[in-house]
Amino acid sequence: MSTSDAAQRHTPVLLQRCLDLLGPALAEPGAVMIDATLGMGGHTAGVLDAIGTVRVIGIDRDPQALDLASARLARFGDRFTPVHAVYDEIPDVLDELGLPGVHGVLMDLGVSSLQLDEAERGFAYAQDAPLDMRMDPTRGRTAADVLAEYDEADLVRILREYGEERFAGRIARRIVQTRQTARIERSGELVDLIRASIPAAARQKGGNPAKRTFQALRIEVNDELAVLGRAVPAAVEALLVGGRIAVESYHSLEDRLVKRTLAAGATTSAPPGLPVVPEDHAPYLRLLTRGAEEADEAEIARNPRSQSVRLRAAERLRPTPRHLRAASRRTA
Ligand SMILES: C[S@@+](CC[C@H](N)C(=O)[O-])C[C@H]1O[C@@H](n2cnc3c(N)ncnc32)[C@H](O)[C@@H]1O
Repeated sequence: MSTSDAAQRHTPVLLQRCLDLLGPALAEPGAVMIDATLGMGGHTAGVLDAIGTVRVIGIDRDPQALDLASARLARFGDRFTPVHAVYDEIPDVLDELGLPGVHGVLMDLGVSSLQLDEAERGFAYAQDAPLDMRMDPTRGRTAADVLAEYDEADLVRILREYGEERFAGRIARRIVQTRQTARIERSGELVDLIRASIPAAARQKGGNPAKRTFQALRIEVNDELAVLGRAVPAAVEALLVGGRIAVESYHSLEDRLVKRTLAAGATTSAPPGLPVVPEDHAPYLRLLTRGAEEADEAEIARNPRSQSVRLRAAERLRPTPRHLRAASRRTA
């Protein structure tokens, strides 16, 4: 695939709004931003074009995305640095680059259009392909491995928690029955199995009934929520005072984790009732969005991926108090 194909395949979601939110922190000379979800580099290209002095470190766990984005961003020379990593490794990435902190972090969560379009990677329920779903195909368990190895209770749990699937019990039972004869290796087989598991009335409603199971498997295969739960606090910790973070989530489980971390930093940690809040308990973040922002109708019409986006952003006001830094390391 050519670089321009890559650019066309993925239109960055809420790009202008991300630039408005992060821009004030990135305008100072020598500013550095981490794009923790480089993908095809759409957001990064927008940032590098808009702010002529900024440098971007682009992280992705998908080696194919890094290759495509690096080719696309070659024109920016040493203002762009690609890094193959999982985004909860931000502290290690900064250590290796010798950077004490950054002025901005952008996270555009989930899968890219590239991953969805490449049928062979098994993310899309609409195309028959091997059930892989690893964002980094060089390591870890595939979706087919999860279906073969997890016991029924664990399958029910992931379908329920990560897919919010009402018929988790029925689907898990049929997976376990089916695999007694042979491993479930292809997305087409899984889609048929899901259709056969749910009541006829539910098959008619609410789009493809396989959507929720595929989401659940993808989250499990890539350990997405545990990684995100460590990554957002790590990304906040990486911000210098005055630095800003913007996170785009695409389902409520992600958004909840983001909301919790940003809200915790924007709230005093002092016990209630103190007449004056001691410096060590003052909020260290300021929220830049009221609630979660969504895309408007015009953008949704242009770019259907933006339909479910929830954008939250915050600015660092002061260093994280020492007692909270220790606590966030313990929960990480
Ligand atoms: C929605 S796409 C980003 C698209 C990008 N903003 C653009 O405009 O081209 C998300 C990217 O994040 C990557 N990704 C998802 N989870 C990750 C993680 N835990 N660590 C590193 N990269 C991750 C995926 O591989 C994918 O390429």
